[in-house]
Amino acid sequence: MSKFLYENYKDYFRVGAAVSGIILMNDAEREELFQNMKRRMEEFKKNFKPQPGMPEFKFPEPEPFPKGDMPDKKLAAQHFNLVVAENECKMGSIYHGPDNFDFSGADRLLKFARENNQAMRWHTLVWHNQSPRWIFEDGNGGKASKELLEERLKNYIMTVGQRYKDDICSVDVVNECISDKNFILRDGADRSQWFDIMGPDYVDKAFFWAKEAFPNSSLVINDYNLEMIEDKRQGMYNLVKGMKERGVPVDTVGLQMHINIKNPPISEIEQTIELYGSLGLNVIVTEMEVSAYLDKDFEHPDPRREYDQAFLDEQAERYYQIFECFKKEAKAGILKDVVLWGVTDGMSWKNNFPAPGRGDAPLLFDKDGNPKPAFDRLTK
Ligand code: XIL
Repeated sequence: MSKFLYENYKDYFRVGAAVSGIILMNDAEREELFQNMKRRMEEFKKNFKPQPGMPEFKFPEPEPFPKGDMPDKKLAAQHFNLVVAENECKMGSIYHGPDNFDFSGADRLLKFARENNQAMRWHTLVWHNQSPRWIFEDGNGGKASKELLEERLKNYIMTVGQRYKDDICSVDVVNECISDKNFILRDGADRSQWFDIMGPDYVDKAFFWAKEAFPNSSLVINDYNLEMIEDKRQGMYNLVKGMKERGVPVDTVGLQMHINIKNPPISEIEQTIELYGSLGLNVIVTEMEVSAYLDKDFEHPDPRREYDQAFLDEQAERYYQIFECFKKEAKAGILKDVVLWGVTDGMSWKNNFPAPGRGDAPLLFDKDGNPKPAFDRLTK
């Protein structure tokens, strides 16, 4: 076994990490970000109207970033052979107007990937979240027309492809398009302005444009809870089956896999991978972490779990068993990449989701960058 995580799996799949732009910033940039976060939190608190009956909770106070390199930077460089931007390649970070693109965050991650001989993924081209507001507007207080939105989206996809097509191994073309209510395409009432304005073909169109823009990258449809909720898994199956029949160039299903210490059972993960494999599609794991909290804890925003030795050992065993399942599915030719959504616990988005400020410990390194039992279990 090697002390570097990815080397232990190199005969099976690449092991990736989502890299936050924050870890690639210098101290001055981080200080500016911290001041902005403080300002935004104050605004949020001022405008916050609690719902009747809502449990009281303390708002998370932004904390200043430590000076110098954060542990995540070195760990991301050493242990992973694939990276993806946690936020910097989302449309809202890049597309500020019809002819106004800011590629600074994406370029910075690409430079990091090159320096460390890593492959890079693109997350994500089309999503109902973290999209810029202007794109859905006509500039006169109304909604953009279908034609206008299509032109803007196509222009975006082509521009991104022109710049990065030779550097990106796989692209999340459409993210989170299956509804949690009825397991068909998420519509306007369910927060997809893409569906609302372009209609249900927006997914196929995005894939055709992505194929033109990134002719050599694998094209992924990505979603959460596919391994957790059978109806959602089936909904995605129906969608991709139809896409294949229509000749839409989707080749991979991305399982986000924001899972927890108990759920789902490994058998469900295995079934999910094999279900999409049965359509001749590849599968990648795009955003995995193993939360300390079960789904039913979603309602309780209080920080209250000890990340004691028993938890850490249970988490280690769970990571190990799941990675063994991944090895099997890689050998079967279906699973290609496994990406973790972050490096150290301190930087994980799960500290604030679904319960702001609750904290969590879902990754392989603790907040100081020390390897946790789960890391040891995967490398020894
Ligand atoms: C999350 C990031 O981790 C956070 O920093 C950001 O505030 C919100 O988005 N599914 C996705 C990811 O596809 O883009 C999300 O990332 C996590 C859920």
